[in-house]
Amino acid sequence: MTWDPSQYLRYDIERSQPARDLIAALGDVDPTEIVDLGCGTGNSTALLEQRWPDASLTGVDGSTEMLNQASQSGVRAAWHAADIVTWRPDTPVDLIFSNAALHWLDNHTTLFPQLVGTLAEHGALAVQMPYNFSQPSHTLINDIANEPQWVERLHSVVRPSPVAAPDRYLRILEPLVSSLRVWTTTYLHVLSGDHPVAEWTGGATLRPVIAALGDDAHAFIDEYKSRLTVAYPQRTDGTTVFPFTRMFIVAKR
Ligand SMILES: C[S@@+](CC[C@H](N)C(=O)[O-])C[C@H]1O[C@@H](n2cnc3c(N)ncnc32)[C@H](O)[C@@H]1O
Repeated sequence: MTWDPSQYLRYDIERSQPARDLIAALGDVDPTEIVDLGCGTGNSTALLEQRWPDASLTGVDGSTEMLNQASQSGVRAAWHAADIVTWRPDTPVDLIFSNAALHWLDNHTTLFPQLVGTLAEHGALAVQMPYNFSQPSHTLINDIANEPQWVERLHSVVRPSPVAAPDRYLRILEPLVSSLRVWTTTYLHVLSGDHPVAEWTGGATLRPVIAALGDDAHAFIDEYKSRLTVAYPQRTDGTTVFPFTRMFIVAKR
């Protein structure tokens, strides 16, 4: 699967608000070493640099396209190509930050304890993940992918929700940390333009479909757009409201 940084950055302001909110929730945490896991284009890394200008920053990502963009962002970080599943830091980390990335990985029951295990004493793990897999923006993709025209080519890209219910993360992490907060927030994005929800998911959730279908993705996306107009009607002023729930986790050792 390839990422398209310019498509992802179309909703830069809306996509980075949860990262800002997660940083705000970290209060007086004062890290020396920070890792931005799934740093993408470096948007979230830039916010970390603003908040902790003296910290040493490393951005980790598996996408060459996203890392190329990150390395041109002007953010003063070391950029590291790695799969988060196998990534391990050389030394314990004070803050592992991950905005909108860990939902791309399965098996959170193993992953989250592993990440906590890489923290320094009193270190923190701060994670934000989409929690809207039951909403039409996502379910319509799976519905269409499971139809006879597409199912053969798309059965491997349709995933059940990778993000568990909030209380599951409490149960996984509580025995491992001294303080833990898990919460969700629903953002009501007011988007302009035609088919803004498809434009939004085209920067992330739809990427595996686009990769699997190549040029045929246009037909898939046309069908998706027509169903989205019912689920997310355009208002008379031309804007569309896109409710988007996200889950936040702050765990401190
Ligand atoms: C939606 S972007 C988020 C980027 C950034 N954190 C931000 O807030 O804008 C998700 C990123 O996670 C990365 N990613 C997903 N799965 C990964 C994995 N297994 N290993 C490394 N990076 C991964 C993708 O390459 C992508 O750049």
